[in-house]
Amino acid sequence: MLAKEIRERYLRFFEKKGHKIVASDLLVPENDPTLLFTGAGMNQFKEQFMGKNVTFKRATSSQKCLRTGDLENVGRTPRHHTFFEMLGNFSFGDYFKREAINWAWEFMTVEMKFPKERLWISVYKDDEEAYSIWKDEIKVDPKRIVKLGPDSNFWPADAPSKGPNGPCGPCSEIFFDWGPGTGCGKPDCSPACDCSRFIEVWNLVFTEFERKPDGQLVPLPAKNIDTGMGLERIVSVVQNVPTNFDTDLFTPLTDAIKKVLDAKGVSVPKSHINLIADHIRAVTFCITDGVSPSNEKRGYVVRKLIRRAYMKSKQKEAFLFNLVPVVVGLLKDIYPELEGKREHVAAIVKDEEDKFNETLRAAMPVMEEMLSGGKKKLNGDQVFKLVDTYGMPLDVISDEAETRGVTIDVDTYEKLMEKRKDESRKGSNITSDFIFKPDAFAKAPKPELSGDMPLLCDVVFMLKNGAPADAISEGENGEIITSPQSSVIYTEGGGQVGDAGHIEADGVSAVFVNVCNAGGKRVFQTHVKKGTLRIGAKVKISIDEKRKERTACNHTATHLLQSALRQVLGDQVKQSGSYVDDRRLRFDFTQLKKLTDRELLAVEELANGWIEKNMPVKKETKSLEEAKTEGALSFFGEKYGEIVRMVTIPGASKELCGGTHVDNTGVIKFVKIISESSVASGIRRIEAVTGENVIAWLKETSVGFDKELKQMSSVAGGTASLFKSVPGLDKAAATVDKVLKNEAHVDKALLKEFDETVRP
Ligand code: SER
Repeated sequence: MLAKEIRERYLRFFEKKGHKIVASDLLVPENDPTLLFTGAGMNQFKEQFMGKNVTFKRATSSQKCLRTGDLENVGRTPRHHTFFEMLGNFSFGDYFKREAINWAWEFMTVEMKFPKERLWISVYKDDEEAYSIWKDEIKVDPKRIVKLGPDSNFWPADAPSKGPNGPCGPCSEIFFDWGPGTGCGKPDCSPACDCSRFIEVWNLVFTEFERKPDGQLVPLPAKNIDTGMGLERIVSVVQNVPTNFDTDLFTPLTDAIKKVLDAKGVSVPKSHINLIADHIRAVTFCITDGVSPSNEKRGYVVRKLIRRAYMKSKQKEAFLFNLVPVVVGLLKDIYPELEGKREHVAAIVKDEEDKFNETLRAAMPVMEEMLSGGKKKLNGDQVFKLVDTYGMPLDVISDEAETRGVTIDVDTYEKLMEKRKDESRKGSNITSDFIFKPDAFAKAPKPELSGDMPLLCDVVFMLKNGAPADAISEGENGEIITSPQSSVIYTEGGGQVGDAGHIEADGVSAVFVNVCNAGGKRVFQTHVKKGTLRIGAKVKISIDEKRKERTACNHTATHLLQSALRQVLGDQVKQSGSYVDDRRLRFDFTQLKKLTDRELLAVEELANGWIEKNMPVKKETKSLEEAKTEGALSFFGEKYGEIVRMVTIPGASKELCGGTHVDNTGVIKFVKIISESSVASGIRRIEAVTGENVIAWLKETSVGFDKELKQMSSVAGGTASLFKSVPGLDKAAATVDKVLKNEAHVDKALLKEFDETVRP
C-alpha cells in the first residue's frame, strides 16, 4: 500500500466518524510565537483544547511538522527526521478515552488489517481507566500492555514536573512488534526496552489538564483527545521495509540523490543520502512557508539544514536545488502550496549553496592545512580563526571534525569569541545604550493605568545597570516604573519604537528615550540630565509630540509601501519584519529578486499618490475572525488576540496593527525610498524616509553628490593635464577637456576615440 493511500484512508476513516478534515497548518505557527516550528498536529488546536473558539468538536489532519531535537540522529538511524507528517484525530470536549482507543484499534486491525498479536500497548502507570479499556473491552492480552512513567506516557513528556505550561495529559501508545528475532533478543523485551524490536506508531493523548505557571495541573474546561501517528513510520511498517527512507515517501528522492552523486563520481554512505533527503524535504517546506535561510532563529535552522546536506554530499558546486522539484512532485497533491513556490524555493536554495560554497572554498584549504600530517585536533585558536577570519560556521566545523574523527577545543574557542565580543562592545560605545531585560522587572509592582497627559505620578521602581536601585544621579541612565502608569504613552512593539519625552521633578530634569513593556509594566528608559531622580519622587511626564507624529507618519507610510509593493510585485510579497522610528522606516519582505529602479519608482509613485489624495486612516477594533474575513493583512509570526485593531486606508491598505498612525495620509507629505537591499535569501529590505526627513535626506545626499562631482572633475582635470604633458596623448587630453566643458557627451564614438588614443 502506498503512503498516499494510507494517509487518505486515515483521514476518510475519521471523516466517517464525524471528524472535519482540516488542512495542515503552516510549518511556522501563525498565531503562536512561542513555537519555533509546528511540531505536532495539535498545535493549531491549542485554543480549542483550552475551550476557546470551538466551532467544530472533531477534527482530523495530516500536519506538516518540523522538530530539530533529533537533528544529530537524522540519517544515522532508521526513523529520525526533521520534517515529517503527522496524522491525527482530535476531540475538543467531545469524545474521550473510550472512543479514541476503540477507533484506534479499529483503524489498525480492521482498516489496516494489522495482526492483533503484533500490536502492543503502553499506558500511563496511574491510568487505570485506559488500562482497563485495553484489557477488558478491546481484549488485548495483558502481557502485551505495559505501564510506563511520565517520561514515556505523558504528553508533553514529563510535563507534570518539567512543563511546558499549557494543555497536557496522560497518553497511551500503540507499538508494532517486528518480532522476537529483531532487537535485543531478551525474553522480557517490551516497548519499555529501547532496542529496535518495538516501534511506536501511534500516540493517543488524553488532554485533560492545563499546566499552570506554578506547576499545578488543573482540569481543563472539558476533556480532549489529541492523537498523533507519524506517517513515515506507519508507512515503513505497512511496506515492511527496514527504514523510513526505504518507503515510497523517500525512494524517488533518494534515487534522485544517488543519480546526481553517481553522475559526478561521488560516493557517500547511505546515511548521508538519507540525511540529504530528510533535509531537502524540510528546507523545501520551510521556504515554501516563508522561512528563508538567515542568521535569525528559524532562518538559521534552514541555513544549517542546507549546509549540513551540502557538506554530506561532498559537492563542489550547488546541487541540492535540483532536488526541490522532486520533493514538490512527491508531495504537491497533499500540500498544493508547494507547486507555486517551486522555482522560488529552488532559487533560494541555489543562492544559499553558492554562498556557502564560496566560504568553503576559502576555509577548507586552511582547515586541511591545520590538519596536515594526520593531526587529529584543532585547538581553540584554530577554530576561532576558521570562524572569525574565514566565516566557517562552528556547527560545520564540528560536523566535519566528527566525520574525520578530529576533536576540537570548543571551550577555548568560546572564550576567544567572548573576548572578541567584549572588544567590539567597547568599541561601539554601547555603554550608553539600554539593554532591556523584561525579567529584571519581575518584582516591580504593576501599577494602575491613567489616561492623563501630562502624567503626574510617583517613581515606584528603578533599575540602574540592570540591578534595583534607589536613585539615578545626574548624567546616569536607568529604567523606571511609575504609578500610575500611562495608557496613552506608546510602548515599544509591533516594530515601532516607544514614545520619548520629558520627566520633571523638583530639582530634577530627565528625558526618557523609549518605553518598553515588561509583562504589562511600562518601563521608561531614562537619562537624568540634572539633579538626582529617586524612588518615591513625584514626577510630571510629557511626551515629545513632534517625535510621535514623525513616527506615526513613518508607520502609516510603511502600510502604504507594503500595499504598493504588493501591487507592483505581486501578492507573494509578505512582511517579514519592520522597524519604525521618528527618522526612518525599514520594511523587510519576501521577494526573490532585487527590485529594479523602475519597480522602486512605481512603488514610490503609488504610495505618494495615496499620500497626495489626503486619504483618511481609520482605526477600528474588531474580532480577529471579522478582520481576517475583511482581508486585513497580518504579520505572520505576530501573536494576535481575539480582539484586534485594524488600520484601514480605504482602497489602499488594510492591516492588523496596534501602532501609532496619522489620521490622514496627507500629513505624511512625501515618502522616499532611500535604499533597497537583501537581508536573507528571498528577503529584501527597503528603507524610506517621510515628510521633513525627506528634505534632510536630500540635503545630505546632495552635499555628498556635490562633493563627488567636485572630486570627479578635479580627477578628470588632473587627468587632462597629465595627458597634455605626455607626448602623443594630446588628443585624449582634448577629449577629456571637451567632456569637462560640457561640450561633448560620453557617447560610444567618443569612448572609442578615447580608447584608441590612450591605448594605441
Ligand atoms: N501531540 C502528540 C504527539 O505529538 C500526539 O499528537 O505525540
